[in-house]
Amino acid sequence: MSLRPRAEASPCYLPSVIRRVTDRDVELFRRELAGFVPPGSFDVHAHLYTVPGLNVAVEESAEDAGAELGVEAYRESMRSWMGDAAPRDGLFFGLPLSANIDVAGENRFVGAQVARQEGSRALLLVRPTDHPAAVEATLQTDRLCGFKVYHLFAQTPDTYQAPTEAFLPEWVWERADQRGLSIMLHLVRRQALSDPGNLEYVRGHCLRYPNARLILAHAARGFCAQHTVDSIDRLRGLGNLFFDTAAVCEAAAFEAVLRAFGPSRLLFGTDWPICNLRGRCVSVGDGFFWLYEHNVDWDTSQFAQPTLVGIESLRALKQAARTCALTDGDLEQIFCANARQLLGVGLAGQENRGVRELCDSRASVAGGERTQALYEAAKKRIPGGTQLLSKRPEQLAPGKWPAYFAEARGCEVIDLDGRRFVDMAYMGIGACLLGYCDPDVTAAVVRRVQLGSMSTLNSPEEAELAEVLVALHPWADQVRYFRCGGEAMAAAVRIARASTGRDKVALCGYHGWHDWYLATNLPTATEHAGEDRLREHLLPGLEPAGVPSGLAGTVFPFRFNQLAELEAIVATHGPELAAVVMEPTRGAHPEPGFLEGVRALCDRCGARLVIDEITIGFRLCLGGAHLRYGVAPDLAVYAKALGNGHPMAAIVGNADTMDACQCTFISSTYWTESVGPTAALATLRKMQRFDVPVHVARIGRRMREGWEELSRRHGVPLHTAGHDCLVKLGFDHPDDPALQTLLTVRMLERGFLACAGFYPSLAHEERHVEAYLAAADPVFAELGEAARAGDAARRVGGAVKQSGFARLA
Ligand SMILES: Cc1ncc(COP(=O)(O)O)c(C=O)c1O
Repeated sequence: MSLRPRAEASPCYLPSVIRRVTDRDVELFRRELAGFVPPGSFDVHAHLYTVPGLNVAVEESAEDAGAELGVEAYRESMRSWMGDAAPRDGLFFGLPLSANIDVAGENRFVGAQVARQEGSRALLLVRPTDHPAAVEATLQTDRLCGFKVYHLFAQTPDTYQAPTEAFLPEWVWERADQRGLSIMLHLVRRQALSDPGNLEYVRGHCLRYPNARLILAHAARGFCAQHTVDSIDRLRGLGNLFFDTAAVCEAAAFEAVLRAFGPSRLLFGTDWPICNLRGRCVSVGDGFFWLYEHNVDWDTSQFAQPTLVGIESLRALKQAARTCALTDGDLEQIFCANARQLLGVGLAGQENRGVRELCDSRASVAGGERTQALYEAAKKRIPGGTQLLSKRPEQLAPGKWPAYFAEARGCEVIDLDGRRFVDMAYMGIGACLLGYCDPDVTAAVVRRVQLGSMSTLNSPEEAELAEVLVALHPWADQVRYFRCGGEAMAAAVRIARASTGRDKVALCGYHGWHDWYLATNLPTATEHAGEDRLREHLLPGLEPAGVPSGLAGTVFPFRFNQLAELEAIVATHGPELAAVVMEPTRGAHPEPGFLEGVRALCDRCGARLVIDEITIGFRLCLGGAHLRYGVAPDLAVYAKALGNGHPMAAIVGNADTMDACQCTFISSTYWTESVGPTAALATLRKMQRFDVPVHVARIGRRMREGWEELSRRHGVPLHTAGHDCLVKLGFDHPDDPALQTLLTVRMLERGFLACAGFYPSLAHEERHVEAYLAAADPVFAELGEAARAGDAARRVGGAVKQSGFARLA
């Protein structure tokens, strides 16, 4: 293949050029792509234009010279190679071929075309020299939903190197922000997204104008895919940023978007009429090159004949879909749903879907109906509805809380209805301290999964992780692994019992669902009949149903910071005590001498000190909170944050205690898989690079201050509690549960998962807290009124949240 110019360039905008589709193109599309493109797609990037309006000299034919390429021409041309798979609707705008085009005339042409198309929308071509008021007037017209800007309109000598400000004026952002409109931007400058000025511009403006939506055309101009691949991570977490696929022929650019933003931010676009040219764009060095029919001597190659740019782009998208293992539901989003959701184009026919469809398809449903319907269906098959009590919607806002997530990234979740929420609640019930889908942890896990994460042999990551954990805990010698917190705690109690040859346990705090723990609530022959002795330890209402009565009298609870209560237990049961099991802190720091006193009592009676770090671990300092308090346990137990969302738990212990693992049988198949330790290693490495405890304390403190400010302003009887990294609120009012429910319901309406607790993560920034507090201002005003009127439950408009453990109706 030679790049020697062979024929004169044919102007790409002429009907005679874009209609040159061959049988080979059609055959290739049918063979490779027809089944890939779902029916009813929406093309988010298509140009409509009149040849006269382009103001260029046309020599070929008079017919071409007067041509008007409206929706009909577009449809006919797309059908010529996509057949029935051609897009049903589109987002159309003029073709900014040069700075000389008749912008006003072309905008009018597009507007008139789209006015006749129910499901389509238009963007207005705008120049930096346009008058905002004139544009404002045009915007009143039907079906316009934003702006298309282009570098050729910049008033700079080399527009291709222009800074974005030179062709995207601030008033465009202001209008878009005021009205929730979209801006389509084709980045320029040599390195596109890798240009530091471009990156800063995109990030800064998306944050400054959160109600505007920015579509970075051509996968952030990923024609040289590396530019998008290298820099897209810097834009993570922007809630108003989207990307289209138009004319990009390299899978890597799409993969980068999918990895950093997921399938809900990628929009199918064709760049018509460019998609109908024959050739493709390739990365070359630090740039890209368009191979066209006219600039390559294709006859010198017996292997290659160019096909349509649109086909090449779809093949690249298909390749990315394969690499990222996208489902049909994901593809339906990219091709059909995302753009319609972004532009507010209705989607009919979503009713009466089965469970499978409910899970698969995420075309948006405004009120969360799909998510609620799936939960109602699940409750018939899954007793109690969920696997974790704290994730039951009934514990937060019955009938309103979104039970399921489709995507979770950073601190944002998307439910099955495509609704986005910023998680200002529990972040995976404390599991995701680095944020959801952390890129470093995800990359390590994906690599491990692709290499195979389970075999007859063991995972080598176990050994490496053991070294890291022991290095973090100078008092410790050995490690054993599990996958969940509760089971790790059960194993820790077993180890303590085996190593002491004793049965009894003193405990403080919550430690999971296992028999040894629930035995606390078993009535003994002489005392505690029906008494909820675990009430003080996080969860009231834990019935010991199914726990063998023979375990009665084996567990003795004591309250945090009440050393005298433990002293009394030791005085009575000291010689039989296998372990003292406790959280080192939950809501408050230990009083001076408390933990030291516990340690001394253990030493005196020969019981093992087991510290449960499952929730607090890694939040107050790198490692367990006990490190900060300077008290060495015999065993420390981790889960939750250790795997940052991947199942992983560990007991770290001194050799003397851990030795008992050799004489009691503790063994399970899935404790040997590799994802857990791989995730833990990646998580710990990241925690060694970033000071997570300092960050989450700052974010949580700001939230606490915000809650307090709002409650003062609106007379809400509120108190805050807990460490900054696990901050909580409560209402000093008999309607506390109803007020909590009302807070949750109103914040859901504003796009936040919110409740009486906030577990900040590394993914939370100050801006998330400020956005929450701004949205919460009117909500707190209502909470104040509800508290005064005593009508919070009525305002909830449904059932009030449950507290503690209770049977689901
Ligand atoms: C301190 C503590 N221990 C144990 C557990 C139980 O862990 P898991 O839910 O992973 O079984 C929890 C869970 O919240 C916890 O907070």
